Amino acid sequence: MPLLRRLLIIVMLLALAVIGGAGYLYLTGENAGTGGGTAEFGGAFELVNTEGETVTEADFQGGYQLIYFGYTYCPDVCPTALSTMSRALDRFAERDAAAARKVTPVFITVDPGRDTVEVMRSYVQHFHPRLIGLTGTAEQVRQAAKAYRVYYAKVEDAGSSEYLMDHSSYVYLMGPQGRLLTHFTHRDSPEAIAEGLAAYVPS
Ligand code: NI
Repeated sequence: MPLLRRLLIIVMLLALAVIGGAGYLYLTGENAGTGGGTAEFGGAFELVNTEGETVTEADFQGGYQLIYFGYTYCPDVCPTALSTMSRALDRFAERDAAAARKVTPVFITVDPGRDTVEVMRSYVQHFHPRLIGLTGTAEQVRQAAKAYRVYYAKVEDAGSSEYLMDHSSYVYLMGPQGRLLTHFTHRDSPEAIAEGLAAYVPS
């Protein structure tokens, strides 16, 4: 009896240690995503735009970007995030057209298997005339998502031949030196995001 109880306590303590460790990693990961301008965030990537041209982080240097990772087959969250992001940029342009022109909205797919250059090209047109759509090989997308600490995973749907993608949903505001300035979520209003843009992007 004491042995069994002791084993049970050891197992429980180990479980607590694992949960605590995972929680710590989760929190520090989150902090890294929310902090002002961590150098490690973002960084090198190579993707393909809707013209079929190779694009790297260097192509965006000098301007601001609103970056969102998602996929075109997404039933709700991605379309919401992209339309919110687009409306926020329009609101910001009404306040300060010169500053808004410095901000490039970018949509990067986490589903390169279905989101071909052609699919991305027709999809981005629904949201904003300046929205840049980026896809690539599975490896290119994996690298880009890793650089921006984006989680994504394929979820098979038993009731359908199509699959869903589970993915994190943040709109990142990147600065001219490729540094993270702040982030928004698809739950923020266009007005709130426009307000946030005004705080970071000068005329
Ligand atoms: Ni989505």
